[in-house]
Amino acid sequence: MNAIVFERYGPPDVLQMREITKPEPQIGEILIQIQATTVTAGDWRMRKADPFLARLFNGLWRPKRVRILGFELAGVVEATGRGVTRFKPGDAVFAACGTEFGAYADYKCMPETNCVALKPENMTFEEAAAVPVGALTALQFLRKGNIRRGSRVLIYGASGSVGTYAVQLARFFGAEVTGVCSTSNVELVRSLGAERVIDYSKERLEADGPAYDLIFDTVGKSPFHACVKRLAPNGFYLQAYQVSPLSIIRGKWVTWTSNKKVLGGSVIENVEDLSYLKEIIESGALRSVIDRRYPLEQAAEAHRFVEQGHKKGNVVLSVKACPKGGDGAALFGGNPEVGQK
Ligand SMILES: NC(=O)c1ccc[n+]([C@@H]2O[C@H](COP(=O)([O-])OP(=O)(O)OC[C@H]3O[C@@H](n4cnc5c(N)ncnc54)[C@H](OP(=O)(O)O)[C@@H]3O)[C@@H](O)[C@H]2O)c1
Repeated sequence: MNAIVFERYGPPDVLQMREITKPEPQIGEILIQIQATTVTAGDWRMRKADPFLARLFNGLWRPKRVRILGFELAGVVEATGRGVTRFKPGDAVFAACGTEFGAYADYKCMPETNCVALKPENMTFEEAAAVPVGALTALQFLRKGNIRRGSRVLIYGASGSVGTYAVQLARFFGAEVTGVCSTSNVELVRSLGAERVIDYSKERLEADGPAYDLIFDTVGKSPFHACVKRLAPNGFYLQAYQVSPLSIIRGKWVTWTSNKKVLGGSVIENVEDLSYLKEIIESGALRSVIDRRYPLEQAAEAHRFVEQGHKKGNVVLSVKACPKGGDGAALFGGNPEVGQK
């Protein structure tokens, strides 16, 4: 089978297409024929070993544990190992691969007990492949922030992957949503349900102004002191991005010394939340925003684009021409587009 392999840390060109052995499902595993995967921040960071500490996980001098990137996928179960009960060949599924990565390939095996569920029926493979990382992160952070009906929520990076899902989920939970993005994304963020949009290229978030119960920074661009000031009593300031040690101390200090909480953390891939997202998607309340699509062999090109930090929603790698219900015909046009259902 084909896979995009990286054998050294570095720029996008370290991603090379290779022919490797097709895996076989072991006891309790399913073999997924991958239709689509994505380029997430986790992928390009692992490729570059950024931060340096990533090398402690994946090999000091060269990638050892993970040599095939791809954090999430959608595809079709081709075969099942002994003892598998949740899936059968032919099932369309979507999944988070976790720190094992491995979705930049034609096939991947994973235990059926991992974070894998039947694909939402109203999504294409490409749309479904983008859900696990961004939407699970958004869901879990909003819950951490005790989101409820009527919560006043501010979302920084509302046009990114985590942000586009967060805006929609916050609305789903009945919150009043303000999104922060640049001029070219104002209409997109509004279309996802934000009642108010702050254009960061024209307006700064000041310390004075209406209070928020929850400020969710998905991209690490919010002004710390202004955000803390704008939090209502018992409010939450949520940070989904990689935070420096100094910022961790600053956040802890606010949490310990006030009635406001600053929280970070990592997404926990679990099938219960993924299945819950499937239900929300099938109810029509959540969709994926796709910025660009690339064929798998252009993974390096896709990485180059995503690393610039300005994608709208998600960037998809199409592994196979999508079968029934997919959007194979539109795959390789090469033009940036925002695919909205
Ligand atoms: N904690 C976890 O477990 C977890 C899980 C997944 C992801 N993450 C992290 O979450 C972060 C976000 O990932 P993502 O994929 O959602 O990001 P992304 O899609 O790459 O974010 C890009 C978006 O951010 C917007 N943006 C850039 N500068 C901005 C600013 N000053 N104010 C507001 N928006 C701005 C860009 O809009 P413009 O083009 O208009 O500037 C673009 O739409 C990453 O750091 C990732 O590592 C963490």
